[in-house]
Amino acid sequence: MKAIRIYEPGGPEKLIYEEVPTPQLREGWSLVKVLGFGINHSEIFTRKGQSPSVKFPRILGIECVGVIEDSTDEERLPAGQQVISIMGEMGRAFDGGYAEYALLPNEQIYPVETTLAVASWAAMPETYYTAFGSMTNLHLTDGNISGLSVLVRGATSGVGVAFVRLLKAYDQKVHVTGTSRNASKAELLKAEGFDEVVIDQQNILQTEARYDRVLDLIGPAALRDTFSHMNEQAIVCCTGLLGGIWSLDRFDPLEDMPPNVYLTSFHSGNDPAARLQEMIDFVEHYGVDVTPAKVFSLPQVPEAHRYLESTGSFGKVVVVNQENNS
Ligand SMILES: NC(=O)c1ccc[n+]([C@@H]2O[C@H](COP(=O)([O-])OP(=O)(O)OC[C@H]3O[C@@H](n4cnc5c(N)ncnc54)[C@H](OP(=O)(O)O)[C@@H]3O)[C@@H](O)[C@H]2O)c1
Repeated sequence: MKAIRIYEPGGPEKLIYEEVPTPQLREGWSLVKVLGFGINHSEIFTRKGQSPSVKFPRILGIECVGVIEDSTDEERLPAGQQVISIMGEMGRAFDGGYAEYALLPNEQIYPVETTLAVASWAAMPETYYTAFGSMTNLHLTDGNISGLSVLVRGATSGVGVAFVRLLKAYDQKVHVTGTSRNASKAELLKAEGFDEVVIDQQNILQTEARYDRVLDLIGPAALRDTFSHMNEQAIVCCTGLLGGIWSLDRFDPLEDMPPNVYLTSFHSGNDPAARLQEMIDFVEHYGVDVTPAKVFSLPQVPEAHRYLESTGSFGKVVVVNQENNS
């Protein structure tokens, strides 16, 4: 089969498109014919050598959508079953989704049913699931949310765009502000459904406004500034690390957090077995547009990484395996 393998950390040119042995079925694992996958920011970190536990050579890719080719659990994962795989140690401790086939542990393969086109389906696993889970933890998927003001920090990311699409499909009237470091992306953000755009300059928001709900994808690098923009009873969901800092130094909840606000987070390893289909059903029920911003082919993975790292990057980037879809 063809795959993208990395032998040493570095730039996108270190992602090598080559012929590799198709993995052989073994007990407790199944072989998935990969139809497509999203490119995630965490794979850029890993490619650069910033995931210390990942040993090279490795086929990266922390997610994929596809169908079961061969399985050791024929009852739950029969041949031809549509599946999503995310998280676990895929693309990290063992080879991942940047390939025509992926051998994966049965417990991290989730059967789903969908009629979505492959490019849209491939946009969903990590990105839409993370956006959907964050939306749930922000209490934005139940009841009347029309009067709320919502802020998305890191709005131009795949997760940021997915979040506003989900939110606006659920309730057009909720007021959503998105941030970017780059003013030239304001029109693109508005076209995605953001009502307002605020510039994030070195992790300081260029506004005095306060919000009822904040999805913070910049993370600890910006969190103290986020706290200064929250209304009473507001909730912040810290889901991302785009700022490149992984923890909040000397965090003192009593001193650092404004009074009467809530801090939560979401991790895509959180209960995908039960909730991936719920997310797909939500997308289909509310008619959420999950079309990715850019679609690449398997040999173009280095180009996809280059695009995601460029200053013009916007929204979800996916790869569709042409051979497996013809
Ligand atoms: N909790 C989970 O389970 C989970 C799951 C998936 C993703 N995530 C996290 O969610 C975040 C978004 O992921 P993604 O894959 O959607 O990202 P992505 O599409 O790769 O994000 C690209 C955007 O990141 C912004 N960005 C890049 N470097 C930045 C920096 N140093 N400071 C501020 N902004 C920066 C850029 O926005 P501008 O140029 O417009 O400012 C760019 O448009 C990541 O931190 C990822 O690790 C978490």
